[in-house]
Amino acid sequence: MSNQIIIDEKLIKYLQTNGYRSDDIIDKLVAETSALGNVARMQIAPEQGQFLEIIVNITKSRNCLEIGRFTGLSSLCIAKGLIEKGKLISIDNSDEFLSLAQKYWKMAGVDKKIESVIADGVDVMQSMVDRKHYFDFIFIDADKNNYPQYYELSLQLISQNGLIIIDNMLWHGDVANLEKQDTQTTTIRDLNLKIKKDNRVNYSLLPLSDGLSFIQKK
Ligand SMILES: C[S@@+](CC[C@H](N)C(=O)[O-])C[C@H]1O[C@@H](n2cnc3c(N)ncnc32)[C@H](O)[C@@H]1O
Repeated sequence: MSNQIIIDEKLIKYLQTNGYRSDDIIDKLVAETSALGNVARMQIAPEQGQFLEIIVNITKSRNCLEIGRFTGLSSLCIAKGLIEKGKLISIDNSDEFLSLAQKYWKMAGVDKKIESVIADGVDVMQSMVDRKHYFDFIFIDADKNNYPQYYELSLQLISQNGLIIIDNMLWHGDVANLEKQDTQTTTIRDLNLKIKKDNRVNYSLLPLSDGLSFIQKK
């Protein structure tokens, strides 16, 4: 059995340069987000974005949902992977960075594929469940304390064999450090365990950037 290699600083640099093909629009969005200061840490890594684009594309996902838009990199990448008539509904409870996101969605020619909803993620998802909405692909990247609710609601909203991807499931490595007992860490640690034991799904936990949980509803 081959072992998970250790990803040290040198390998991180290698992954960032060789595991990601530079894209002018993505690079500009990353630079403009980075100039915002500390909040920029919320943005997904560009190599994760390109992975999302491929997954949406190979699964031919038509109806996609995202919880957590921020400056719109994940939305842009998901929308790029969508088929011609595909659609992404992107939820965020803040409109602070919406116009910035929209500027880049437009630049990439994907703005018409994205519907933005400004509201609480749990509330919107619950109302979608009540109205019997279904999605082929769901990306979860919002407030960590609500991750268990987002997971359960996603299982009600995802079609059979549809995919749910959750970001930050390694939480800077803190999930493996039992001295870390803060609410966000324990919530993510408990959710990893729950998904592992959950017979409703197949899953894989990938160490791409801050960890992506890749979940397929059976
Ligand atoms: C990690 S960022 C998302 C990053 C984004 N996926 C990207 O690629 O740049 C998390 C986002 O979740 C939003 N958020 C936090 N709590 C939320 C809630 N209860 N409902 C909806 N969105 C929420 C925040 O406003 C923030 O924009």
